[in-house]
Amino acid sequence: MNKKSDIVLSGVRPTGTLHLGNYFGALRNYVKMQEEYNCYFFIADLHSLTTHPDTKELKEHVLSVTAYYLAAGLDPDKSVLYCQSDLPQTTELYLYLNMLAYKGELEKTTTFKDKVKLQPENVNAGLLTYPVLMAADILIHRAKYVPVGKDQEQHLEMTRTFGNRFNHRYGEVFPEPKAFNYGNELLKVPSLDGAGKMSKSENQYATIYLSDDDDSIRKKIMKAKTDSGPTEPNSVKPDYIVNIFDLMRLVSAPAVIEKYEAAFNACTIRYGDLKKQLAEDMVNFISPIRQKAKDIRDNESALNIILKVGAQKAAENAQKTMQLVRSAMGLKYF
Ligand code: TRP
Repeated sequence: MNKKSDIVLSGVRPTGTLHLGNYFGALRNYVKMQEEYNCYFFIADLHSLTTHPDTKELKEHVLSVTAYYLAAGLDPDKSVLYCQSDLPQTTELYLYLNMLAYKGELEKTTTFKDKVKLQPENVNAGLLTYPVLMAADILIHRAKYVPVGKDQEQHLEMTRTFGNRFNHRYGEVFPEPKAFNYGNELLKVPSLDGAGKMSKSENQYATIYLSDDDDSIRKKIMKAKTDSGPTEPNSVKPDYIVNIFDLMRLVSAPAVIEKYEAAFNACTIRYGDLKKQLAEDMVNFISPIRQKAKDIRDNESALNIILKVGAQKAAENAQKTMQLVRSAMGLKYF
């Protein structure tokens, strides 16, 4: 297949464990995108320092996220996979962009205001300029498409602002990056407590992690809220029942879903059976990914090579951008 020249880029912070929302909301799409676009995916370890200054567990998190990315199907021969701190060009561009980013607009960023409330004792400059570093991540590759969720849209808008400011002041270097996902709506992966999305959930019992063992998956699903069942044929499903069916649609066979839909409509559904079925289908879905990630993680020297080669490939493109940037800015004295 002829790869399109359009560049797709996305990053993930190595804080916390990847969950089902990350898989269906992001990873699965990346795997598809790598067949059609020129893709860069990276682990945003520098961004994690804005909230997690302790680096004791950073290496483990970086390697683990990388292993899960590979286990989910990202292929280092098809997309460029690297760690942010291995690409120093990003931090150089971050410095230049910082001169084009104003304190007032940075202070207005929603994520900054949220973090100030969460960690009032550590309102560091890196936190304030988080969107500038993210802009550097994107602009360093002159990416056109950025697959991110709604919570990152403001950052993307700021990236366009900084890129355009650069272009106006120094000359055209950066294309405007756009949010991008397959389909209009991002797939919704509901939380198990009947409230919100799995990705937003703060409650670890309501979130299924890709690293959960089979029994934890079963326990979490069996605890999901239900009731005594519909009493009228063809009733409207309450939200928490809709959620269970939505989760089923992600991992169960169509015939299975039809069977339970019919049982719901006929008021013969037994929610215990529904959840047992979902639990087994979920286990069958997650356990191969978990095992594959573990095998990949256990072969650390192979993982190191993947990250090293990824960083080299990323640097080739980043260097080209930095030459354009430095020459546009006139930062060339010999
Ligand atoms: N801020 C993103 C998040 O929290 C992570 C990220 C960092 C990112 N740099 C990026 C995402 C560049 C897309 C592009 O999810």
